[in-house]
Amino acid sequence: MPTKSSEKYTAKNIEELRDLIRHHEYRYFVVDDPEISDLQFDQLMNELKKLEADNPKLITPDSPTQRVGGKPREGFLKARHSSPMLSLDNTYNEEDLRNWERRVHELSGRTDIDYVCELKLDGMSLALQYEDGQLARGITRGDGSIGEDVTLNVRTVRSIPLSIPKEKLKKAGIPTTFEVRGEMLMPLASFKKMNEEREKQGLSTFANPRNATAGTVRQLEPSITAQRRLDYFSYSLLVNGQTHFERHWETLNALEAAGFKVNPDRKQSDSYEKIWKFIELEETKREKLPYEIDGIVVKVDRVALQRELGYTGKAPRWAIAYKYAARGGVTQIEDILIQVGRTGKLTPVAALKPVPIGGTTVSRATLHNMDEIERLGVKIGDWVEVERGGDVIPKVVRVIDDDAHPRGHKTFHMPTKCPVCGGEVVRTEGEADHRCVNANCPAKLRETILHFASRHVMNIEGMGDALVNQLTERGMVKNVADIYKLTKENLLSLERMGDKSAQNVLDEIEASKKLPLERVIFGLGIRFVGERTAQFLAEHFGALDAIESASAEELQQVDEVGPRIAESIGEFFHEPKNRELVDKLRKAGLAFTGKKRER
Ligand code: IVH
Repeated sequence: MPTKSSEKYTAKNIEELRDLIRHHEYRYFVVDDPEISDLQFDQLMNELKKLEADNPKLITPDSPTQRVGGKPREGFLKARHSSPMLSLDNTYNEEDLRNWERRVHELSGRTDIDYVCELKLDGMSLALQYEDGQLARGITRGDGSIGEDVTLNVRTVRSIPLSIPKEKLKKAGIPTTFEVRGEMLMPLASFKKMNEEREKQGLSTFANPRNATAGTVRQLEPSITAQRRLDYFSYSLLVNGQTHFERHWETLNALEAAGFKVNPDRKQSDSYEKIWKFIELEETKREKLPYEIDGIVVKVDRVALQRELGYTGKAPRWAIAYKYAARGGVTQIEDILIQVGRTGKLTPVAALKPVPIGGTTVSRATLHNMDEIERLGVKIGDWVEVERGGDVIPKVVRVIDDDAHPRGHKTFHMPTKCPVCGGEVVRTEGEADHRCVNANCPAKLRETILHFASRHVMNIEGMGDALVNQLTERGMVKNVADIYKLTKENLLSLERMGDKSAQNVLDEIEASKKLPLERVIFGLGIRFVGERTAQFLAEHFGALDAIESASAEELQQVDEVGPRIAESIGEFFHEPKNRELVDKLRKAGLAFTGKKRER
């Protein structure tokens, strides 16, 4: 039993360590300028976890270890906003923007007006309520008056402070009970990674980062939200439902001083010309931003003047959004093809008349699934607008129907037989995707092998499309374990394979056996188990056998593993075919044990 004084000593230590971690979270996630390495950060976190495990009574809800917590919900509770969350009126050209600015002059009877220009972030707006310096609630916009309480998910976003010291708030001029409003978004890199992983795991992909943000904030398992790396920029501060400072510019600076992330691309402007200059400048920077924006928001700076100008229906007269044109091109759909993924998912892909968009030529664009085709109302032969955002796969966003672009006539139907193997195609009730149900469909096998051999998994260089196609078509590789039975003779019998390349491939296969346990776990292709979860599982259990025999409860002890992931792992190992495969991989000599992380 620790004595009272040693307990006190530990309490102080723990709080100091928490502050240190909060500081480094701030450096990394808010100002994007870390002072220590990821490894050093992990070490600090592990030390805190250990101290808290030894002293569970000292755990506080605002500890950096407590971002993911609580049980997944059945649904979200409704919550009323302190004042309505409004939207903005949009303008799409210079003339409309100029008219808005003139109207502000007319209504106010003034010409000396200050404005603040900000980026229009393309995510979802969200309110954060702090009570006594602690994050109490996160609420979605909903219908503007009533939203959903998504606090557990919001807590997992590392750029949102769980608590703010009173002195810090005082210095920033903010009382301890207040509300912040801003935009939750998913950075493009996270979006791309998430969709790639979902594709591999046989889940439907999100059409854009905005939908992905909404889907992530509104999903019921906080551990899954935590994995998806959302970010939050704040742009409004309310106290008792009222704007607190006299100028919007002051609000932004105060939020920043309190430790919130505020977008650095902002500007005070006292003329229309300066506003326009900002709009033009930011458009040139748009391509390089790590997240999506769809325009610029211009707001009247002085709050007294904002109040004078008031609101029209759902939007303020004192602010306006200027929307950039979509980064897209117009072209014609020549055909709609089907791609079959690793899990048998059939993805309709538009074959396009090649069109240049943002420096590359686009000739394919995804149509995601049948729901999307119906939503767009797209037919073969249609002229469409195609958009490419950042690194994202091009997609069809709209069908064009005017004199210059007549409608196409050929309706697309999802095939009832798999175009690769002729197997039956089904669509499960309530799901958007069609799938080939043939477990032995060569397309599934091919994608499974490609995933297993890819750089982030077993890193078998040379085992790309061309080789995998031949290996699967000739029946030389029927599952991932067969890779380890390949001989030089096998490889030499293939097209475009000389002695040297065959030896290289064999060397690569051999080298892959030395890769750590987490790669093997990731390579198994268990639904929901991506790179990160595989690593947590490896560190927690230290052996594949231990994961195989773990109960759902034991699995949920692992960082970021909730009931859905635990169930999926259980299902995977329950299937005799999968156990057989795991056994073959063990016999092939792959890493089945690893280093357990000290806790
Ligand atoms: S201010 C009353 N500022 O755009 C003013 N909104 O179309 C409320 N948005 O619902 C919003 N970036 O989700 C504001 N810098 C920004 C914004 C922004 C993105 C979103 C927000 C809002 C929507 C309105």
